[in-house]
Amino acid sequence: MVIFITALVSAQARGAGQARGAAPAAAQPAAQRPQMSEEAFKNVTELKGIPVREFMNTMGFFAASLAFNCTDCHGGASASDWANYAIDTPLKNRARTMIRMVKAINEANFGGRPFVTCYTCHRGSQKPKITPSLAVQYGEPPPDDPAEVEALPGSRVTATPDQVLDKYLQAIGGAQAVGRLTSFTAKGNYEGFDSDFAKVPVDIYAKGPNQRAVVAHMASGDSATVYDGREAWIASPKELSPLPVIPLLGADLTGARLDAQLTFPTMIKTLLTGWRADFPAATIDDKPVYVIQGTIDRVPVKLYFDRMSGLLVRQTRYAPTVVGTVPTHVAYSDYREVPGTGVKIPFTWQMTWVDGQYTINLESVQPNAPIDAARFAKPAAR
Ligand code: HEC
Ligand code: HEC
Repeated sequence: MVIFITALVSAQARGAGQARGAAPAAAQPAAQRPQMSEEAFKNVTELKGIPVREFMNTMGFFAASLAFNCTDCHGGASASDWANYAIDTPLKNRARTMIRMVKAINEANFGGRPFVTCYTCHRGSQKPKITPSLAVQYGEPPPDDPAEVEALPGSRVTATPDQVLDKYLQAIGGAQAVGRLTSFTAKGNYEGFDSDFAKVPVDIYAKGPNQRAVVAHMASGDSATVYDGREAWIASPKELSPLPVIPLLGADLTGARLDAQLTFPTMIKTLLTGWRADFPAATIDDKPVYVIQGTIDRVPVKLYFDRMSGLLVRQTRYAPTVVGTVPTHVAYSDYREVPGTGVKIPFTWQMTWVDGQYTINLESVQPNAPIDAARFAKPAAR
């Protein structure tokens, strides 16, 4: 698997994309309105009026659609300084024409809904194919991507969402024990595209029902993703992000909330609504999984549970951006007991989204530890 990013992409972006017109941003007084793309960046002509994190998600969407690195469009100079991303290149200008073309196609044919996206044509290539391939037509179909299983209304439900979630709560120690774990701090290591996949120390602070901070100690300084129960931010050292502190909004904010709340899953059944389980059989790493889907703040989320162990092995969520919907995965593994609690949590999780990937491995977890409220406050610029 190739990763199409430079080290310059913001650190632990939770979720991707931006639910358009979602409540939290609108509810803020005008003075606190987050910076929009054209204010934060120097040379934006097409992707105006969207929050910074959504703008970065559109960049990830381009990279994913064309199998490009950021520097392929932006030129080698962008790797050394964020300011150089503003320099125009022929491919950037080509991409701008494409943005207008896609908009026109969707407006003329699909009532403005993003049915045609960069990925529709490019599918991981610079030059979209014009002629169908006989090799593909007659060859083996590619393996199914579990992220793409779609609900089949009317299909047989092998286990209801309630049964799957009960089995999960049982598997991690039972609802009562889980309810008694109200906070923890943890230490471990982080490896991501922004640490050049070198292992760096990480601290996790988590407080039920919904606060979480992940602080990775990069060579160039701390990178923090914080959800305080209401708002979320990513703060990164200067060279790792276009802005020192990026607020998460819309679907990104929902993703941060979901990650924080899934850390203390007692309320999982009511956290999401509109649960459904009518999915065809799916496997992850050759193991059969139950797939259930629910919705949180209008963001659809699929959860995958190992049929044997009952444990949550993956989360996939989707977020709209102006150029199309982007997926985010979190893969959970290495479930171990938090010492003295009878509760198992994943000691390893890997987050993958269109402009980044990282893995966290926990080494030690301290349950029910007091945590300074400042850990969940808006991080200061690095
Ligand atoms: C397919 C080409 C393409 C790829 C790949 C791409 N970009 Fe862009 N990028 C653009 C275009 C086009 C603009 C200008 C958008 C506009 O004018 O609305 C832009 C603008 C930007 C800007 C704003 C710069 C400024 O100050 O004006 C940043 C930052 C940026 N890109 C970062 C990235 C990162 C990080 C990646 C990799 C994840 C990336 N881009 C991948 C085409 C691309
Ligand atoms: C309707 C199909 C279609 C869609 C949708 C589409 N493209 Fe393209 N794109 C093409 C074709 C065709 C070419 C020309 C390839 C060639 O020159 O052989 C191209 C070329 C490009 C190139 C130049 C590549 C090169 O190496 O010269 C860039 C960059 C690009 N597209 C970006 C995008 C982006 C970004 C989007 C989404 C906003 C997008 N495209 C959506 C069909 C599409």
